[in-house]
Amino acid sequence: MSDERTAGANGAAGDAPVAPAGNVAEVPPSGPLCLTGRIRVEVAGEVVADTGDVALCRCGHSRNKPFCDGSHRRVGFDDPGTIQGGRLVPGSEEAVPGDAVVIVCAANGPLLVRGPLTVAASDGAKSQGTKGALCRCGASSTKPFCDGTHKNTGFEAS
Ligand code: FES
Repeated sequence: MSDERTAGANGAAGDAPVAPAGNVAEVPPSGPLCLTGRIRVEVAGEVVADTGDVALCRCGHSRNKPFCDGSHRRVGFDDPGTIQGGRLVPGSEEAVPGDAVVIVCAANGPLLVRGPLTVAASDGAKSQGTKGALCRCGASSTKPFCDGTHKNTGFEAS
């Protein structure tokens, strides 16, 4: 199985009760975000994926954004898959177990989390919440979260 589709997560538990287990974004080293659960991905207001398993590009080089196409290997994307800064936060609405998470792809910007999600880093660290911004340009210094660097690098998502 290629890492574009490898996830293997299933409702990792954590210490903050803000996000029910179920939707997980694994962060493998030097690879994509591997999401499992109830995942909806939106681009420009359109649902481009409504699925239980999807790999989203976080290196910034996929030719099929927001999806991973394996380009991270071609470009030598190098990242430990740990949480280097940032976190998910509780949203204004209470998350209900079984809720889908919506990933809104901001124009030339990050992956905006709207709904319950656990980010599971490669070293076992977790961040749970219902709101946040995940890097997809590959240049954030707080990967897997966005730090705004895409604005400086001229990241183009299309
Ligand atoms: S992470 Fe796989 S193509 Fe970007």
